[in-house]
Amino acid sequence: MRVPLAAVSPGTTLSRPIYGVMGQILLREGVKLTARSIRRLQELGVSAVHIDLGIPEPEDPISEHTRCYAHQMLAQLASNLPNKVQVREVVQSILDEILESEAIIQGMNSISTYDGYTYTHSVDVCILGLGIGVKLGLTHNQLVDLGTGCLLHDIGKLSLPSIILNKPGRLTADEYELVKTHPQQGYNLIVANPDVSSQAAQTVLQHHERWNGSGYPLGKSQQEIHPFAAICGVADTYSAMISNRVYRKAVPSHESYEMLLASGGTWFDFKIIQAFAKCVVPYPPGALVELTNGQAALVVRSSPSHPYVPVVRIVGTDVTLMEEIDLQEARIGIRGLLSAAATRRLLGSTEYASALGI
Ligand SMILES: [Fe+2]
Repeated sequence: MRVPLAAVSPGTTLSRPIYGVMGQILLREGVKLTARSIRRLQELGVSAVHIDLGIPEPEDPISEHTRCYAHQMLAQLASNLPNKVQVREVVQSILDEILESEAIIQGMNSISTYDGYTYTHSVDVCILGLGIGVKLGLTHNQLVDLGTGCLLHDIGKLSLPSIILNKPGRLTADEYELVKTHPQQGYNLIVANPDVSSQAAQTVLQHHERWNGSGYPLGKSQQEIHPFAAICGVADTYSAMISNRVYRKAVPSHESYEMLLASGGTWFDFKIIQAFAKCVVPYPPGALVELTNGQAALVVRSSPSHPYVPVVRIVGTDVTLMEEIDLQEARIGIRGLLSAAATRRLLGSTEYASALGI
């Protein structure tokens, strides 16, 4: 199960390898984490790891292999080798896996294992953008163009000084104006690439435009915005919110979900937000939550049709993993996610740790 790194104690055993941003293995499956390795992973921007909790893992929407392939392609593109990369081939692989996998709904919330890496964020936006596109009934060719635009949406940031992109504090007005040039710079970089359609290029150019006209660089509104760019904007915003950034911590998944839902008709097209709500759930499998009766519980399964009442297992004081409870039938609600500190206390106590197999 994927859990926040902040909630993991030294001695925890990894149930999946941790890959570096370029696909190299940083730590193998079965390795016991130490205080030092946890610190190092934090420095590298890893925000979550997989540990064995003795319950079935939600499937990831795409394989590690495809994710690494996408990272390598983006790295090649960054090194000015546009003729040697096959963007469509990468997007096709991601799309094939999404269409094959029924895990898109469950896995969509486990997309962000890394923070602060443009490549990882780009792949995450591609996955979620394609998920929304599938729900909106786009054709196969449209999905490939949408996926290509989503994968390349922030490619213009490669032209910006990294000192600005990684600045921990608030940007000055001049710095913000420079950041706002990245959609146009990205468009300029790819518009001549034969692998990239004009639809995908428009997605890159317009992904920061907003429904109410408050976006940039063109200040377009409503139907003036390319529909693929509007989808990309939703996926980009959600992926950015649930990730730790250098200048702020991740927004909890349920708050990000609710903020996106509330943005229909202001920032985003309501129809796209409705499709988003069919892809993402506020409490994904693996989330540790506090119930309205005060108990702590682990989310086992969730469904976008009943987003606030997933199936959970109570984490108790004597027997740590009890039978599954469908909150829809039990008339118990969720107060919110357990805080990182509470999760850490829970997973860190010897009693829980042994019962949870960590
Ligand atoms: Fe962007």
